[in-house]
Amino acid sequence: MESVRKNIRENWPVIIIITAVILVLAMNFLSLNTTYNPTPITTTYDSSWASPSLFTDRTLTGENRTLVIYGQDLITHTSRYLGPNGKVGSISNGMNCQNCHLSGGKKTWGNNYGAVASTYPRFRDRSGSIETIYKRVSDCFERSLNGKAPDSLSKEYKAIEAYIKWVGKDVPKGVTPKQTGIYKLPYLDRAADPIKGSIVYQGQCQRCHGQNGEGVLAINETEYEYPPLWGENSYNNGAGLYRLSRFAGFVYSNMPNNEASHEHPVLSIEDSWDVAAFVNSRPRPIKNLEKDWPDISKKPIDHPFGPYTDGFSEVQHKYGPYPPILARREEMKKSK
Ligand code: HEC
Ligand code: HEC
Repeated sequence: MESVRKNIRENWPVIIIITAVILVLAMNFLSLNTTYNPTPITTTYDSSWASPSLFTDRTLTGENRTLVIYGQDLITHTSRYLGPNGKVGSISNGMNCQNCHLSGGKKTWGNNYGAVASTYPRFRDRSGSIETIYKRVSDCFERSLNGKAPDSLSKEYKAIEAYIKWVGKDVPKGVTPKQTGIYKLPYLDRAADPIKGSIVYQGQCQRCHGQNGEGVLAINETEYEYPPLWGENSYNNGAGLYRLSRFAGFVYSNMPNNEASHEHPVLSIEDSWDVAAFVNSRPRPIKNLEKDWPDISKKPIDHPFGPYTDGFSEVQHKYGPYPPILARREEMKKSK
């Protein structure tokens, strides 16, 4: 007993400090518990969209889960399965879907798949018909991957569709979440300039995508570390990125990869348009596009192939300036 008292007497400063710390911790804990008021999570599809995760989705089970997991692998490593040396087939150019649909088609403003399950089948002016998901996926195989449509009955196609539908499963029918697809950059009031764009390319892109836009193969040599931007292994002239607005918007929000984000872009709006003009003035595979845009008045303003109803040249449709074309189209609408 005596020794305990002696101990306390000798160590009282330490004891006081320890008691004080315990008290402060306890008060903090109590106040946290009483004032903790969780902000209600309101998911407004208009302003944001959160993609599902395979780690947390416990509703996805059994065969369905296996299929979605295979689909994710096909989107992120397309070329391993379906590229020039693919282990299942050889129907595409060596690019992966993920090269353009970033983070497996889940990234906001990274050309994500958020609106596919909710808005397909839908009418599209490019084909002048109602398109299913199969038709839309085939389009990217034939254009962006400069290849062939997959067999709609194959396990690979079924897995791709299951994955894309799963990514958009929480979006209500008919809704397109903001931040889906590609950001629509404001138009310049001048034509986009390939010469200025080549300087942007040298400064911001070449170190990864290569001096001739050829990209860099990964060590496994079946997919790209840095995908090609032009040349024989790139997307063809019928691909979405061949339109300047799509390319510029994609690059503005996403490139240089892992450095730029939509909230913190690296390129200015002007640089994005100019580098788009430069890259899309380089050679690339050609697709026969005769059947596209059966109603020529519906061609997008930056579709670079005539004929058009508005009287502007192919060059101006490709590079701009777009505001005069827009104005003419408005006038034509009014005078109808
Ligand atoms: C070279 C780039 C590129 C590659 C590679 C690519 N895509 Fe696309 N994809 C696009 C662009 C651009 C769009 C149109 C985006 C827009 O106009 O908003 C698109 C659109 C889509 C859409 C429609 C999205 C929507 O909301 O309407 C689907 C589905 C799709 N791609 C699937 C695929 C699949 C599957 C693959 C791989 C087999 C693939 N894509 C590879 C560029 C690419
Ligand atoms: C740090 C390396 C790096 C830099 C710098 C970079 N990119 Fe990329 N880029 C990538 C990678 C990696 C991908 C594929 C992303 C994936 O698969 O997840 C990509 C994809 C792309 C794509 C879609 C796929 C394709 O090949 O068509 C385009 C377009 C693109 N980059 C354009 C640009 C432009 C333009 C610049 C310069 C402003 C640029 N990138 C700078 C690494 C880079």
